[in-house]
Amino acid sequence: MNPLQVAVIGCGTIANVAHIPAYTKNKDAHLAYFCDIIPERADKAAKEYGGTAVYNYRELLDKKDLDAVSVCTPNNLHAPIAIDFLRAGKDVLCEKPAARTFAEA
Ligand SMILES: NC(=O)c1ccc[n+]([C@@H]2O[C@H](COP(=O)([O-])OP(=O)(O)OC[C@H]3O[C@@H](n4cnc5c(N)ncnc54)[C@H](O)[C@@H]3O)[C@@H](O)[C@H]2O)c1
Repeated sequence: MNPLQVAVIGCGTIANVAHIPAYTKNKDAHLAYFCDIIPERADKAAKEYGGTAVYNYRELLDKKDLDAVSVCTPNNLHAPIAIDFLRAGKDVLCEKPAARTFAEA
């Protein structure tokens, strides 16, 4: 089976201490894209792990070579970003909390 092509959205603390290290240990996953609105954070991860850096997650929504995303942004962006990727047909692993309110979730 080809590895899942994964993007990490938000390359801050939890991405660097949990999500990225876990993906690097999983032979069924390949880190293809790193996205952060702070370009240096996306650039640093891409340089270290060999993927492509992007600075606006919307650029990834229609990528055919992307299967799944980890949403590692601040809480207020979990639901909108996760929903955008789900609507684009991607699998989503979202940091907690899934949303800020029951209605939003
Ligand atoms: N599961 C856990 O145990 C655990 C632990 C810590 C944090 N978290 C959760 O993880 C999330 C992130 O926490 P953190 O400590 O890594 O925060 P952080 O501030 O270190 O990282 C968040 C990153 O998201 C980036 N970002 C912001 N808006 C963005 C956007 N529109 N597109 C792309 N990137 C964007 C920021 O620039 C930053 O680099 C929070 O929701 C937090 O609750 C979970």
